[in-house]
Amino acid sequence: MARDHIVPNDLRAYWMPFTANRQFKKAPRMLVEAEGMYYRNLSGDRVLDSSAGLWCCNAGHRHPKIVKAIQDQARQLDYCPGFQIGHPKAFELANRVVDLAPDGLDHVLFTNSGSEAVDSALKLALAYHRSIGQGERFRLIGRERGYHGVNFGGVSVGGIVANRKVYGSLLTGVDHLRHTHMPEVNRFSRGQPEHGVELAEDLERLAMLHGPETIAAVIIEPVAGSTGVLIPPVGYLERVREICDKYGMLLIFDEVITGFGRLGAPFGSTHYGVTPDMITCAKGLTNGVIPMGGVLCSSKIHDAFMHGPEHMIELFHGYTYSGNPIACAAGLASLDVYRDQGLFEKTHSNASYFEDGLHSLRDLPYVIDIRNEGLVGAVELESIDGLPGKRAFELFIRAFESGLLIRVTGDIIALSPPLIAERSHLDEIFGRLEQLLRTQD
Ligand SMILES: Cc1ncc(COP(=O)(O)O)c(C=O)c1O
Repeated sequence: MARDHIVPNDLRAYWMPFTANRQFKKAPRMLVEAEGMYYRNLSGDRVLDSSAGLWCCNAGHRHPKIVKAIQDQARQLDYCPGFQIGHPKAFELANRVVDLAPDGLDHVLFTNSGSEAVDSALKLALAYHRSIGQGERFRLIGRERGYHGVNFGGVSVGGIVANRKVYGSLLTGVDHLRHTHMPEVNRFSRGQPEHGVELAEDLERLAMLHGPETIAAVIIEPVAGSTGVLIPPVGYLERVREICDKYGMLLIFDEVITGFGRLGAPFGSTHYGVTPDMITCAKGLTNGVIPMGGVLCSSKIHDAFMHGPEHMIELFHGYTYSGNPIACAAGLASLDVYRDQGLFEKTHSNASYFEDGLHSLRDLPYVIDIRNEGLVGAVELESIDGLPGKRAFELFIRAFESGLLIRVTGDIIALSPPLIAERSHLDEIFGRLEQLLRTQD
């Protein structure tokens, strides 16, 4: 198909994020259009999206209702200051988001990304304790292999070594739980792995080490996504919640990936039946179309700030684009689409089909583990000696060239197709992957 796209002739200026820039610029991979489950590349070939962009386009691409909402909003109110002034859609979206959240999470701060949501949540945790007279709670606990974005707070509580090690001392007063990956006992688990609940006791140990009265908050992803899809062991999230309650520490679930249907429920916390004190979200909030994130928090946290003279700002925090009207319009339209097309229910009903398809790959060359929950899954490959990440990277390139977009992290293929995926799309994803895995060097 003839395409009318301008092809850049100089790729030097743009320093691409989380990209092997030199490799890319020698052999660029460009996408120029998208619709539903497919992208198109510069030659007009279709590329099947098995990762919902970057885990975000839950309703697929270029959904007409979302496109229209953005266009209408841009025509009506393009920007509105968010400080001391409001516009109706921000309030409407906040109500819609808290209606989806577990009971008790009744307020939301808007941000522009998951990273900002995380840093906002960490700041809120510290400020909350100070506002209730527990300012000695200054410590933050994250987890090894956790990904909480790229800002200083998120990197500090995060546990992906490459994202941390070149950025100096980061935040002080941070410690980490061990990660929950136990391939020796949980390899090829379907859904929640059986073993590993005891790893939650790390929190008890850290509380004893530092003094529980010094810990402000614990942040974890219910399903750790970017590190390569680690599903929480049975009972683990419940035990972390119990320990937080025992010592008055806030629990933050980072649901930037698991929010808005990825596991077949509105949030990971609703899926697992464990309610944190705060949820961070982004990505699916606007179907990935306009940058936006959020921090949901309990009334207990919110109300702790609502005192003092009424003309005073209660929380000195916010962004120029918090609650941006076009982002809010995209958010409202996305939530409408999720509801009207029953996408969370669809995910729930497709989950076991997805699981079966994924696990059908287990005997292919170099596959050492497969894990899944809802419409998210991982195929872990054996690393090449001395060249970690190379095997999966090569597979990623071959997949792209053959018309399949996958996401790889280290030697793990992470799959998270748009929630609109029909079973025929899932068949196509697994069929193509099987072919690619079978023909590895
Ligand atoms: C759990 C989690 N937290 C935070 C982030 C950061 O979000 P963003 O890239 O929008 O800043 C991500 C991104 O993948 C994520 O998966």
